[in-house]
Amino acid sequence: MVNTPVIFNPFVPSYRRNPYLQLDRLRAAEPVHRSDALQAWILTKYDDVLRVLRDHETFSSDARNAGGQIAAAIAEQRTNSPLGDTRSVLASDPPEHAFLRGIVNRAFTPRSVEALRPRMEEITATLLAEAPDTGEWDLMAGLAQPLPVIVIAELLGIPPEDRVQFKAWSDRIALTTDIMQSPETIESIRTATAELIEYFEGHITDRRQHAREDLISALVSAESEGRRLTGAEVLAFAILLLVAGNETTTNLIGSGMRTLLANPEAMVALRAAPECIPAAIEEMLRYDSPVQGIVRFATRDTQIGDRTVAKGDVVMGMTGAANRDPDQFPEPATFDLDRNDSRHLAFGQGIHYCVGAPLARVEAAIAFREILARWPSVEAAGDAEMGGTFLIRGPVRLPLAVAR
Ligand code: HEM
Repeated sequence: MVNTPVIFNPFVPSYRRNPYLQLDRLRAAEPVHRSDALQAWILTKYDDVLRVLRDHETFSSDARNAGGQIAAAIAEQRTNSPLGDTRSVLASDPPEHAFLRGIVNRAFTPRSVEALRPRMEEITATLLAEAPDTGEWDLMAGLAQPLPVIVIAELLGIPPEDRVQFKAWSDRIALTTDIMQSPETIESIRTATAELIEYFEGHITDRRQHAREDLISALVSAESEGRRLTGAEVLAFAILLLVAGNETTTNLIGSGMRTLLANPEAMVALRAAPECIPAAIEEMLRYDSPVQGIVRFATRDTQIGDRTVAKGDVVMGMTGAANRDPDQFPEPATFDLDRNDSRHLAFGQGIHYCVGAPLARVEAAIAFREILARWPSVEAAGDAEMGGTFLIRGPVRLPLAVAR
């Protein structure tokens, strides 16, 4: 038998429309794939991705463990970054990670999130009140984009009138997850970060003098393991919360709705039994994951499957592909409301498991419940326009034909 090399090319436009064609092929033919174009290992099997996420000693989140050309590129990025060498919770390893994580854990427990529910319902109702009773309505601009930004802005304690600017900064910074960044994009990320820092610095100075009941005040005053955050750490945290919580939740609502439009019987079932919406959201997260991949850096030589990964190598655990591994999820390309299996990796796994998961779940549940309650008829009014990057997936425009 002649072994034909597997081609994995996420740069083609069809990948953005449907990455699963290529990811499924890769999982079947070469689940541990070395991509020269990406200079990374691409993992598509559930077990391999899970192992990488759980073994944080071998697979570091700190880019300083990268080797080769990637190390040089990352070092240059850091030199140019307005935040310099300050690492966020997402990009740190133990023991630093535990210290940083300890600070935000409390703000996002299911209980604290439940307390925010009435306010999230109010924001959703206000946004939906601006939508037509009958006609065309873009779910993304109308609800999926503003809802998470308003919620995180209010949590942080940012004035609501600043949220348009806030969202624009967040979108530009989120481009760091793209594989190919043009010099213009790199410059745009740098200036957006610098502007956002300046903006946050004003708020941080204010909260140092007058603490309030908001997350910036909590970050400023928080003490974990006998130590406080430095000014740069407070900034890195605030920026991470803004970026990590925004586009991801937007994409969950957008991709989730695309999935329902393609599976009308599921939409009918949810109308009849809205109490099943939380379970449906778990299946949406599995079926079309907002975060498609998670990056790690090998701290030692190790084996994954039959391949040797060298110290310093970049490893991309493709969570979106793992969530469609047929060895874990029978008929993975079927959206199945009765699956009742929430072992998906859409929020990661292990010590970096998404701190905002309870918040995202409640936001999405409110969004779907209110949309279905408001309009007895919701259909597609044209194709979705897909946005995102290699690691983040979701629509930027999703026109709906709604009718009362
Ligand atoms: C559907 C929405 C969301 C998805 C799919 C998502 C996904 C993820 C994933 C996959 C990780 C793990 C990254 C890694 O292991 O390197 C993560 C971490 C994180 N997420 Fe989320 N996220 C969502 C919403 C949110 C929200 C609403 C917030 C906060 C407001 C948030 C804040 C964070 C933070 C701070 C981390 C880092 C945790 C750590 O490093 O310990 N996320 N998220």
